[in-house]
Amino acid sequence: MSERFPFSIPHGWFQIAYGDELGTGDVLSLHYFDRDLVLFRAESGEVALLDAFCPHLGAHLGHGGVVDGDRIRCPFHAWEFDTRGVCRKVPYAKKVPPKAKVAPWHCVERNQIIWAWHHGKGASPTWEIPEVTEVSSDDWTALDRHSWTVRTHNQEIGENAVDRAHFRYVHGATKVPESELQLDGHIRRAVQHLDMHTPRGEVKGKITVEAHGMGCTITRFTGICETVLLLSHTPIDGGSVDSRFSFTQRRADQGSGVAAAVINEVVRQMDQDIPIWEHKEYLPKPMLCDGDGPIAEYRKWASQFYC
Ligand code: FES
Ligand SMILES: [Fe+2]
Repeated sequence: MSERFPFSIPHGWFQIAYGDELGTGDVLSLHYFDRDLVLFRAESGEVALLDAFCPHLGAHLGHGGVVDGDRIRCPFHAWEFDTRGVCRKVPYAKKVPPKAKVAPWHCVERNQIIWAWHHGKGASPTWEIPEVTEVSSDDWTALDRHSWTVRTHNQEIGENAVDRAHFRYVHGATKVPESELQLDGHIRRAVQHLDMHTPRGEVKGKITVEAHGMGCTITRFTGICETVLLLSHTPIDGGSVDSRFSFTQRRADQGSGVAAAVINEVVRQMDQDIPIWEHKEYLPKPMLCDGDGPIAEYRKWASQFYC
């Protein structure tokens, strides 16, 4: 738990990389969930995420570790660990110490993104990241990616979506947008009707938001230019988050300027939110009014992601 927020790192699926950032045999050193981690791609193509430190004498496998087959070899004394973190070989010993193991993490590659499951007590995943068919369709554009590192917590970012009034006062929407919120287990859905600024002036759009926990949100824009936006927010530690937005748009809608305007508008809104998030205080008991969105409902939903 950080000093700034009264909650820990949430559990759920979180983006740790794009698939194409990790070629076959590549090794990445990562720091997420307040942990040092190593991500590698075995020669079979399988992706593996392990705790970073070798149980032998503590070398960081992400700094000099080398992939050999389906194993990563420690740079210090060449012990080899498989994709589940089990030590399979000590090249200078007759016997592998039976308990030699690095903690493995659940990870999955889906929608061209590598996701890791984090749970404060180490529990296994209780849901899956859905397949977004547009991402692999030839009728849709390659992912257009944007990223930020933000000094905040996932809970604050999620709250922004139900904070109706800020759309007007931070983002300049002409009126406070109406939205219908549905909470269904780990999924939070919202449908929002919003005016968008485009080169053709203000256009009426519909936005369907589907958040799968606190780390993965799939947003669909219709009415202007068909757009699917994958938003991911990954805790680096208790007080900072890597946010990545990945857009795909129907190719048929490209070229008019509207498609680019939709992306620019979403990115502009993120840039407007960040200074508020980075400097605000989290109030456990905010002073709400009748025009505010369903903030209390959102907070109750969010509470399921903590141990
Ligand atoms: S520290 Fe990893 S093999 Fe020795
Ligand atoms: Fe916002």
